[in-house]
Amino acid sequence: MTILVTGGAGYIGSHTVVELLQAGHTPIIADDLSNARADVIDRIETITGQRPVFYQTDCKDAAALRRIFSSHPIDAVIHFAAFKAVGESVKLPLKYYRNNLDTALTLLEVMEEFGCKNFVFSSSATVYGPNNPYPYREEMKAIESSSPYGWTKVMIERILTDYCTAKPDFSAVLLRYFNPIGAHESGLLGDEPNGIPNNLMPYIGRVAAGQLEKLTVFGGDYDTPDGTCQRDYLHVVDLAVGHLKALQYCAAHKGAEAFNLGTGSGVSVLELVNAFQSANGIDLPYTVGPRREGDLPAFWADASKAKTLLGWEAVHTVEDMCRSSWNFAKNAR
Ligand code: WQD
Repeated sequence: MTILVTGGAGYIGSHTVVELLQAGHTPIIADDLSNARADVIDRIETITGQRPVFYQTDCKDAAALRRIFSSHPIDAVIHFAAFKAVGESVKLPLKYYRNNLDTALTLLEVMEEFGCKNFVFSSSATVYGPNNPYPYREEMKAIESSSPYGWTKVMIERILTDYCTAKPDFSAVLLRYFNPIGAHESGLLGDEPNGIPNNLMPYIGRVAAGQLEKLTVFGGDYDTPDGTCQRDYLHVVDLAVGHLKALQYCAAHKGAEAFNLGTGSGVSVLELVNAFQSANGIDLPYTVGPRREGDLPAFWADASKAKTLLGWEAVHTVEDMCRSSWNFAKNAR
């Protein structure tokens, strides 16, 4: 299949492009490089021996998207391109709503012009909001979030669901990711946020590399086994493989369907810190500080729907995630 991958130079997008190439698909990357680096395309080529077609494009630019659809027989779109910093979205909501919603809408309009009917959407466990009990299941109400970033995911899921109702031959798969961490085994692709990281694993990587002094664990007094928050961390390569399974499902079905992509287990912050230390033989300085506003104490996926209907399940261990994260971070460019 020929697949347009928006945001294909980013963290999850680049790993997905590698899996697509290795499975014999033809990914076409559209990425404005607002939060990714151009040399990711070289690194994908080094890993796979194939250079994906790359357009430096803002996906809000309908004319640019039309040129891509005119030049390639696009069978499906995997849509990653979005702003994703939760804290920034609270400070700059208009930036997030404008970018994330406009991008999705422009893409859908251009897909309609070109008769492209398969859409895989990069959604998030954040759509379950603060009030659902965990493990989260897809049939739970997912109409709430705790940040403008999260609301854009809720809204785009809604847009896709309504669009599928109006267009019965359209297929949308909504992939609700839990907490992706880890990196490609080559050490060439990984999570490389600009500036000081907000997310746990990139922060740990910078501390381990000596670029940041110590990790602050946000809260040690939660009602969890060790007092720290629990999340469902999954390896980014498992997540990338999930997109291939979702594409197959998308091409064979109609309508909008949501899937959790997670391992189905909760891991606490301290468990992850300890796993990182023992997997890599590194002492990681940390201190337990106050809670971070907006954090939920614990949540993880019920991952059974993806197993049953997509034939997907996460296979990498927490140790794999910690080892590959460090293998990438220690050589960070
Ligand atoms: C994980 C745990 C923190 C940093 C967010 C988004 C979600 C998705 C993934 C995607 C929490 C703790 C963190 C630190 C810490 N977004 N922590 N010290 O908040 O679960 O999910 O990222 O694009 O939509 O909300 O992930 O990695 O920030 O935090 O103790 O320096 O690590 O409190 O318990 P989160 P995270």
